Amino acid sequence: MPLPPVLVSRHVPSSVLELLRQHCVVDAHDGPSELPRDELLRRVADKSGLVSVLTTRVDRELLEAAPGLRVVANIAVGYDNVDLPAARARGVVVTNTPDVLTDSVADFTMGLILAVTRRIVEGDRLLRRGGWGGWALDFMLGAELRGKRLGVIGMGRIGSAVAARARGFGMSVVYADPATARGAREAADNGVRVSLDELLNTSDVVTIHVPLTPATRHLVDRRALARMRRTAYLVNTARGPVVDEEALAWALRERLIAGAALDVYEREPEVHAGLVGLENVVLAPHLGSATRETRTAMAELAARNVIEVLAGRPAITPIVREARGVR
Ligand code: DGY
Repeated sequence: MPLPPVLVSRHVPSSVLELLRQHCVVDAHDGPSELPRDELLRRVADKSGLVSVLTTRVDRELLEAAPGLRVVANIAVGYDNVDLPAARARGVVVTNTPDVLTDSVADFTMGLILAVTRRIVEGDRLLRRGGWGGWALDFMLGAELRGKRLGVIGMGRIGSAVAARARGFGMSVVYADPATARGAREAADNGVRVSLDELLNTSDVVTIHVPLTPATRHLVDRRALARMRRTAYLVNTARGPVVDEEALAWALRERLIAGAALDVYEREPEVHAGLVGLENVVLAPHLGSATRETRTAMAELAARNVIEVLAGRPAITPIVREARGVR
């Protein structure tokens, strides 16, 4: 039996390519940037499997360009770049990479919470431009976490892991799950479930961990930001479009909230111009899962998903399970 052909749309570790090559004929794009769209469509056309990343748009056009495609393995826990109904209609299995990145994203979220509440990045900027005149009792005071309330929007795996860490810092936790009921089981020990409005009204730090769906796009808009405390902070390590960046820039400028820390943006890699000049916002370039260990584990899980499906076995972490019939 000839090995099935697979396209890898972005750089992955060589150990992962070697693993794939034991089971598939691999066409790997190893450039520093995205494959141009027309080249992606051309190279995917004869493939049975696609290893994609969150910047690879897997839409109807791509699925139609690849009539033999049986599996799309997205190297990300989020999958808003994949048109699931179109994949489902064609019987293409879609997988993501849950669990392996939970701790690294939760650690990073705590890092952002500390960075913004303790003004670490702002202090670094000030020091580098020669603005530090020395220690003073009231110099660059921030906010403590102990005794404060964390509001988790989306108590799934990552939200739960952030809640556990926050409790270690002495925070109490409330959560709201506006987009999905999926969190309910995992959330049992993780805090008190409240409405989104109550969470926004009462939390000292609001952290977002919902997937991007039509229901969560601009979930945090002007109205939501206006409900937050003037002393509160907003943190987003989920997906940029969950927050209306225009509204956030306004809320930060008007000091309706104390600060924000973002790892994700509405139009990556662009960042809203109204955010860039503000001191009370920490801006990270989508690094939540960016540790060597986690990124390798994500790529390896995606590769294993491809290998399983193309061998006729169930995917390990499917989002869309259907194996397609003969076409
Ligand atoms: C994910 O897995 O969805 C992350 O955003 C990747 O960094």
